[in-house]
Amino acid sequence: MSYFKVNNLEQYFKHYNKSVREPRKFWGKIAEENFVWYQGWDKVVDFDMATADVKWFVNGKLNIVKNCIDRHLARKGDKTAIIFEPNNPDEAAQHITYSELYVRVSKLANVLREQGIKKGDRVCIYLPMIPELAVSVLACARIGAVHSVVFAGFSSAAVASRIENCGAKMVITADGGYRGDKTIPLKTIVDEALEKYDAVEKVLVVKRTNQSVQMQENRDFWMEPLLEAALDNNVAEIMDAEDPLFILYTSGSTGKPKGMLHTTAGYMVQTAYTFKNIFNYEENDIFWCTADIGWITGHSYIVYGPLLNGATTVMFEGIPSYPDFGRFWEVIDKHKVTQFYTAPTAIRSLAKESTDWVTKHDLSSLKVIGSVGEPINEEAWHWYNDHVGKKKCPIVDTWWQTETGSIMISPIPFVTPTKPTYATLPLPGIQPVLMDELRNEIEGNQVVGSLCIKFPWPSMARTIWGDHQRYIDTYFKAFPGKYFTGDGALRDEVGYYRITGRVDDVIIVSGHNLGTAPIEDAINEHPAVAESAIVGYPHDIKGNALYGFVILKETGEYRDRDNLSMEINQQIANHIGPIAKLDKIQFVSGLPKTRSGKIMRRILRKIAEGDFNNFGDISTLLNPEIVEEIKEGKV
Ligand code: PRX
Repeated sequence: MSYFKVNNLEQYFKHYNKSVREPRKFWGKIAEENFVWYQGWDKVVDFDMATADVKWFVNGKLNIVKNCIDRHLARKGDKTAIIFEPNNPDEAAQHITYSELYVRVSKLANVLREQGIKKGDRVCIYLPMIPELAVSVLACARIGAVHSVVFAGFSSAAVASRIENCGAKMVITADGGYRGDKTIPLKTIVDEALEKYDAVEKVLVVKRTNQSVQMQENRDFWMEPLLEAALDNNVAEIMDAEDPLFILYTSGSTGKPKGMLHTTAGYMVQTAYTFKNIFNYEENDIFWCTADIGWITGHSYIVYGPLLNGATTVMFEGIPSYPDFGRFWEVIDKHKVTQFYTAPTAIRSLAKESTDWVTKHDLSSLKVIGSVGEPINEEAWHWYNDHVGKKKCPIVDTWWQTETGSIMISPIPFVTPTKPTYATLPLPGIQPVLMDELRNEIEGNQVVGSLCIKFPWPSMARTIWGDHQRYIDTYFKAFPGKYFTGDGALRDEVGYYRITGRVDDVIIVSGHNLGTAPIEDAINEHPAVAESAIVGYPHDIKGNALYGFVILKETGEYRDRDNLSMEINQQIANHIGPIAKLDKIQFVSGLPKTRSGKIMRRILRKIAEGDFNNFGDISTLLNPEIVEEIKEGKV
């Protein structure tokens, strides 16, 4: 019996029960039957949740890119691996076959080796959504270099801190990137970043926008001539199952970037398995995930998951509103997309436009539509179901995280009956639990609690790069023996999960995770600012928007508050990126604090939401009088 595909609900429960009773047999069989290995493993899993040491497929040897490309060549060499849809709809789309992808990846792998990159070295990739981004990721993985993709909307300071944190030897970037009607000067941003951190030896530059850039001798090289000169085949590195595959940064509760490290075999097995099941992937499908490869969703469901299954994956360079609000639907129609995977924030922003944008295009190729990144509200769910899926396509509301590597809780289309706003059931192999404040597991249904996972899964992050203690403290301390997700959830009467949102200091804005601490650090660096606190408040399109409470130093220099607000937002854009800008800024003379000096964010959240009635007990505050003042000055 194969466990790779779940075909009906009865089989789901069978596979699920097997995966809980005998996780080693379950994952072992999937790994053995669906991938190519140089050498098998001694043990399927070895773990200690207290020390957060987890190993899957111990001593197995493989190369993930051989599984993504080489093994498909004999039967599917001429099949399209990647469809590239440019930002500008007048520019021709590109269809890259598996054979062409093999050549492009091999050439770049050879270039990387010639430029001194070896197994284990870190390479920072700061590219727009062009084919070279996927090719760079795969070329690194082919030679065992650890890729660290940084979203091309991040500022030079954010790029610098990530490069420094992982000790990257090389940066791969482009002259510039297109995004709607804007052009982003990527190479210039990299130059600025490297002024702050100069241990990078080489910078490879892809030509995309043809804007003029500075090239530093012996450090910066155009990629194209190097590729032309390179051999078009390459012997892949033999990797251990637990060798690092990539680092991807996510928000944390301090200003220091948190580089989640993913390793090779477990990540491969679970991304391939989830792609196949959650998108009901079949041979001739055209799969489109609209995320950027700068996020985990793009890693797992634009690059690795689809290619491991020999699928055709769409890479879209642009944005949903350019040149008009019909772009997504036009692209689905143009490429006859069968699975479409996007974020609630995109759905909400398009749902507020006329449905003519949708009906103008033929969406009949669609079979499954998906959502990821934040809770999808009921209204958006129905709009998506009615207008995009035309009530025929199951919506897969997929819950997972950068840390989990691949999807954990989601309906399986045509198998699990969907329910609006519910991620429904855990995938086989995933054991979620809800915990109460006393750290007890909450049994039964119709309950709410903190969402934890009680058994390791193959694609979980193995550590935070360079700081294993922080990994333990962040994820394995709150509920000993279990992985704590940072999310709250409820389990309904039939055991379906609904994610209710973060229970920590992370705020999800337009599907992007933002930690409050790094934003506050950025604000506090402004010379006029003494202290600040950020909270989220509900926003129709973004899900949450940011509200900042700012205390000024008593210098009297900054009387023009509008100007100051702009400067603060500029400061945030410089340190983190425009995605972290505040929607509202309120200047206050103090912040509500507990006697131990902790800011009572609960109260600030209520004020930001405009709910002045349920503050709870504020008598324990050090300065209860400040609440009244802040309420009155609400923006
Ligand atoms: O709060 C959850 C929310 O996004 C967080 C993870 O963010 P990130 O690491 O950036 O990964 C996003 C893409 C996988 C989670 O802790 N989240 C993700 N998916 C859902 C969700 N919240 C509700 N429903 C979802 N389907």
